Amino acid sequence: MPRTAIIAGNWKMHKSPEEAVAFVQELGPMVQAYDKVERVVAPTLLALGPVSAALAESALKVAAQDAHWEASGAYTSQVSATMVQPYVDYVIIGHSECRAYLNESDENVNRKAKACLACGLRPIIAVGESLAQNEAGETVDFVQSQVSAALAGIAADDMQRVVIAYEPIWAIGSGRSASGEQADAIIKSAVRDTIRALYSDAIADALRIQYGGSVKPGNMEEFMSQPNIDGALVGGASLQTRDFAALIEIAARVKGS
Ligand code: 13P
Repeated sequence: MPRTAIIAGNWKMHKSPEEAVAFVQELGPMVQAYDKVERVVAPTLLALGPVSAALAESALKVAAQDAHWEASGAYTSQVSATMVQPYVDYVIIGHSECRAYLNESDENVNRKAKACLACGLRPIIAVGESLAQNEAGETVDFVQSQVSAALAGIAADDMQRVVIAYEPIWAIGSGRSASGEQADAIIKSAVRDTIRALYSDAIADALRIQYGGSVKPGNMEEFMSQPNIDGALVGGASLQTRDFAALIEIAARVKGS
C-alpha cells in the first residue's frame, strides 16, 4: 500500500485568527487539485475555531500545535486534547520548540500522544537531534530513544493514526537543511526501523514520516524523492500561500501518483 503524503504547515506563533482565515480561503482553491496529498494547516490555538469553520466544506485539514493530556483540571494556560478535538484532525506534539522553551519531556509527549489517540485525533510526533548531538554522532541513538519514549504503551491498532516528523533542530528556521539522502537515512534507521522493532513490518511500512527543517520550494523535490520520506512539516515556507501551494504541488507531482 503506498503511503499518502502529508504536508503540514506549522504556523507557530504567526497569524491572527483573521489572517489565518484569509490565508486558508486563498490557499484552498490553489491546492484543490492536489487531492492525493493530505494538506494540513496548524494555526495558533486562538485561530482553530475560526479556521475550522472556514474549512467546513474544504479538503484542507486543521492541526493544533499542542494539547494537554488531561481532559480538564488545574493546569493554568493549558488546553486539552478533548477541547481541541471538535476543531482539528491532527495535533503536533513534542515540537523541539516546546521541548526547548516549555520543558516538554519525553514522558509528557507520550501522555499527550495517548490523550490525542483516546479522543480520535492523530498525533504528529516531532523528534530530532541538536547540532551538538549531530556532530557527536549521536543522532540515531537519540532519535530512536525519542521515538520509543513517545510511543510507550501505544497499541499497534492506534499506530495507523500516528505520524512522526523528523526535524533536526539545527535545520529549523536556519536555512540549513539536511540533504535528502541524509534525512532519508536517519528516518529509515532511527524511525522506521525502530517502529519495525517495536511493532511489525506492516506497521513500519505503513507509518507516515515527515521531514521538517528549512523545507522550501527549492529543496522540496529532493526530500519528496526519498523512499522513506512521506511529506513535510513546514514552518517559514508555509506562511505564504504561494510557497505553501508550491510545496503541495511538488509533493503531489512526486508522491501523488
Ligand atoms: P522551518 O520550515 O521554518 O525551518 O520550520 C520547521 C518547523 O519547525 C516545522 O515544525
